[in-house]
Amino acid sequence: MGSVGAKEVPVLLSPEGLRIDGRKLDELRSIRIVAGALHQADGSAFVEWGANKVMAAVYGPREVHPRHLQQNNKAIVQCRYNMAAFSVDERKRPGLDRRSQEISKVIAEAFESVIFAEEFPRTSIDVYIEVLQANAGTRCAGIVAASVALADAGIPMVDLLPAVAVGKVSGAIALDLKKEEDNFGEADLPMALVPQSGRLVLLQMEGHMTRDELAKALDLGVSGCRSIYEKMKQALRDRYAGGTEVAA
Ligand code: CDP
Repeated sequence: MGSVGAKEVPVLLSPEGLRIDGRKLDELRSIRIVAGALHQADGSAFVEWGANKVMAAVYGPREVHPRHLQQNNKAIVQCRYNMAAFSVDERKRPGLDRRSQEISKVIAEAFESVIFAEEFPRTSIDVYIEVLQANAGTRCAGIVAASVALADAGIPMVDLLPAVAVGKVSGAIALDLKKEEDNFGEADLPMALVPQSGRLVLLQMEGHMTRDELAKALDLGVSGCRSIYEKMKQALRDRYAGGTEVAA
């Protein structure tokens, strides 16, 4: 452990180039995706990603509430990302804070760009993301869960939407930051990819990277998204080919 001021800063990168949990710079945490994990929702998915645990439920297309948001030519996509009070080390105050509102908004916009909303005029497609346990990258885990839940609900989309955060730790570009890396690293760059077209529909950045580092981070993120995409498709195959027993 090194120290900066009063804060203990963990060693994020070993001399061999391994990370705090032994991963290589281009390695994802383990990911498990279960499609169709809830009984009541039209579509649902549960994602365990490292120490993150995230549930997504999708309802719709259904009547719009509040009514004045209704659009005559297409469905609206509404998203609520929420972190449970018990999901983090220090109890999070329940309810929608500014962070949750921002994340809900960017996730809704990402899905708006892949859902064929014009097929369902005057309706709402409602996406709920509940973070039960958080360890960095929850917005990406939420997008992955919601995307599989949307497919499970039969909502027509251009493609699934894999997502991952890339960051900078101890001067190195690293795929899929865990909490210590997010807290003590130099940058965090969450992204969501439309695999078919290679288009990014969510890209945010906290911290600093040079232009070259950014290019490297984008490449690493895109290849990370492509691996996650395979797991998402497999989760849907397991559900619909009867490969996995789902308790719903
Ligand atoms: O989760 P994500 O990386 O998408 O969002 P963030 O705002 O960069 O938060 C990073 C991590 O900080 C979260 O995943 C949580 O583990 C933690 N966090 C927390 O402990 N308490 C909060 N109120 C918000 C975030």
